[in-house]
Amino acid sequence: MIGGNSRRKADAMNPYGHFDDAAREYVINRPDTPLPWLNYLGQDDFFGLCTNTAGGYSFWKDAKLRRLTRYRYNNMPMDMGGRYLYVRHNGTVWNPGWKPMKAALDRYECRHGLGYTRITGAKDGIETEVLFFVPPGENVEIWKTTVRNTTGKPQRVSLFSFAEFCLFEALNDMNNYQRTYSIGEVEVEGSAIYHKTEYRERRDHYTLFACTRPVAGFDTSRDAFVGVHNGLHEPQAVLAGRVTNSRAFGWNPIGAHQVDLELAPGASETFSFLLAYVEQGEPKFDAPFVINKTKGRALLEKYRTAAAVDAAFADLGHLWKGLLGACQVTCPDANINRMANTWNQYQCMATFNLSRSASMFETGIGRGMGFRDSNQDILGFVHMIPERAKARILDLAATQLSDGTCFHQYQPLTKKGNAEIGGDFYDDHLWLILSTCAYIKESGDRSILDAPVGYADKPGSRDTLLHHLETSIAYTLSHRGPHGLPLIGHADWNDCLNLNCFSKEPNESFQCAGDVKGSKAESVMIAGLFLQASREMQQLYAWLGRKTEAAGMAGHYAEMLKVIETQAWDGAWYLRAFDAASKPVGSAKNTEGQIFIESQGWCVLGGAGRDNGRAAQALESVHKRLFTPDGIILQQPAYSEYHLELGEITSYPPGVKENAGIFCHNNAWIHLALCQLGQGDRALEYYLSICPSAKEEQIETYRCEPYVYAQMIAGRDAVCAGEAKNSWLTGTAAWTLVAVTQGILGVSADYDGLRIDPCISTKWPSFEVTRRFRGTEYHIVVRNPDGISRGVKQMTVNGKILAGNVVPLAKSGRVEVEVTLG
Ligand code: GLC
Ligand code: GLC
Repeated sequence: MIGGNSRRKADAMNPYGHFDDAAREYVINRPDTPLPWLNYLGQDDFFGLCTNTAGGYSFWKDAKLRRLTRYRYNNMPMDMGGRYLYVRHNGTVWNPGWKPMKAALDRYECRHGLGYTRITGAKDGIETEVLFFVPPGENVEIWKTTVRNTTGKPQRVSLFSFAEFCLFEALNDMNNYQRTYSIGEVEVEGSAIYHKTEYRERRDHYTLFACTRPVAGFDTSRDAFVGVHNGLHEPQAVLAGRVTNSRAFGWNPIGAHQVDLELAPGASETFSFLLAYVEQGEPKFDAPFVINKTKGRALLEKYRTAAAVDAAFADLGHLWKGLLGACQVTCPDANINRMANTWNQYQCMATFNLSRSASMFETGIGRGMGFRDSNQDILGFVHMIPERAKARILDLAATQLSDGTCFHQYQPLTKKGNAEIGGDFYDDHLWLILSTCAYIKESGDRSILDAPVGYADKPGSRDTLLHHLETSIAYTLSHRGPHGLPLIGHADWNDCLNLNCFSKEPNESFQCAGDVKGSKAESVMIAGLFLQASREMQQLYAWLGRKTEAAGMAGHYAEMLKVIETQAWDGAWYLRAFDAASKPVGSAKNTEGQIFIESQGWCVLGGAGRDNGRAAQALESVHKRLFTPDGIILQQPAYSEYHLELGEITSYPPGVKENAGIFCHNNAWIHLALCQLGQGDRALEYYLSICPSAKEEQIETYRCEPYVYAQMIAGRDAVCAGEAKNSWLTGTAAWTLVAVTQGILGVSADYDGLRIDPCISTKWPSFEVTRRFRGTEYHIVVRNPDGISRGVKQMTVNGKILAGNVVPLAKSGRVEVEVTLG
């Protein structure tokens, strides 16, 4: 009965749900979660956001430019609109996912799994289960639906589907009704509804919403199905029990089907709805105004049977099993096992694919792919599919300008830099070095350095990727301020530390407000990041056998280190910056904002303070002044008033976001820094302080999904201390995976092998890691007989003792590595 007991304990901890670790699912048993709890469908080009009540929307590649279904942001109730099925039975109407009708259900369960969500609702003896997923490599979302009669009597049930089409360009769709209300077009063929707005002119794609089973009827006009004055909780066609076979002409096209079922006692019926994105190609039309439906029909044929759908779902399972197989751990900490083996890697796929574009906190019409964000996301993704990381690195590099700066963001569909935000965030270009080196270490593929990739301001140029990396280093070296530290530009990693853009105007962006003339504001964080980047370049050159360049980089490193140590030490920690007037930021001399996390993290990670004890002292200051049980606060004391010379950071109320919130992303830098200093107990304690699965006991306060990291947890200065926000799309995903697997567990890819350098809790007797690396599976067992944190005493590889702690590249399929700390 152990299972029973632990389950009861879990229920008591979190009344909304629990982890099913064996199934790699998070199970939600109450639909009214503290916030909508999200999952993603799709892993290649077609994506869907799917909440625990089936809310959300779908798009192809780009949430802004190829939006397939509509979503209303900041809606009431929160999260309304989605993949809705209405069950009409005995005069009652309900949804298996509870919303939008919110009828009381006899049973509700949502299982968020890897690339799929399965929602089951039951009422009055009718059970409806729907499985949402996107098969690998396909541009179709399948809603596999089963309706069961669990009573002893025959039952008649009508099932209605509902999807509201977006007219593809999501921003225009939301704000240009004088046009959009007049252009909507559909065609219907059997159960297949084709949304073809603008297909006659510039588009060569349509959205298909179809049912694999014959239907009793359909609606394609929202006014007909829902009603002009009705909400989704009172769709008039469903309440009347009959769709109207309406044909949308302008206004708001939707897809809705009616399926009438007669179910014998105990019987069930299974069929699917398909929501697909189709690029038809030539010929576009079968007849004037009649679109060529060849591909749509073929898709419907392909998934007509439940067996075909089940096979596609099995493919998805295999895909994830394979992906996660690249890194699996067994250690004494259940949270680490749970997060590292499944959820953290899964979240890294989402951040890799979507950057910061589409979540419950990002509308998909704002930010595209972020330059710094996507480069960091690669660090947590590259071990899963190195080739996709390579393609992304080259896309990113192509948005760099020939002076070394970068477009801060770009649209995934066009791959063009986003002109509104522009560039001049002077940390951006350095992250490209980190992602490229991580890719080469993982894959061994040095050819990426010679890949031709142009600069965004020089169309047709074909410089190499290596040239981009060198340009990045050169830019930082040549753009420095009075203390010799790198200039900060509009901002560095901390978007809200705007030391050059003094914004007095409510109608402008803090980051893009006009620059202060002649300002020389400097960033210590960029200096620390430069240490890391130049050391990476040095190691890369050394590996390439280019000694002169390696020595050159070592020189740049040493020079920047000297600048940091002579100019940026405040007495007990590293300064954060110098403002436009060359006054220190993040100093004991300031009244607020005396100590910041980012410069402690990057200076220590870059190797500053190693020989003079400052690294340890800086981290001790972090512990005393910034660490809390909910994570490390970004800076203290919080700013209580707006400082023109510091920018957006001081615009936030104390305790949230960059103004003394707990920014989980940069917490992981400190975890890694602690590991470098051998402080394993503290690294684990700090990690657990932001680990979402460890928040189940305080879920009413924490509120966000317990299975993925959040960008931010409110700090102690906030009224809502401990409350998480901005879950899913955050650099926390990649960095915590790096901190846990490479820092704490200490297994990292290197140019010539797998480096083993754990930094664990002194209480851990042992742990194991299985790591797939360049085609070989390494099974690593680490023992800790002396109860220490760090230090490899002995390593055996396939039974042979080897010197050092780098497992050489193997030729065979599986390698056994045994490591003893001491
Ligand atoms: C957000 C941004 C990221 C930035 C961070 C800190 O997470 O996506 O680019 O570094 O905020 O401001
Ligand atoms: C705001 C946010 C910051 C984010 C930025 C993106 O400044 O506070 O976290 O990175 O917007 O533009």
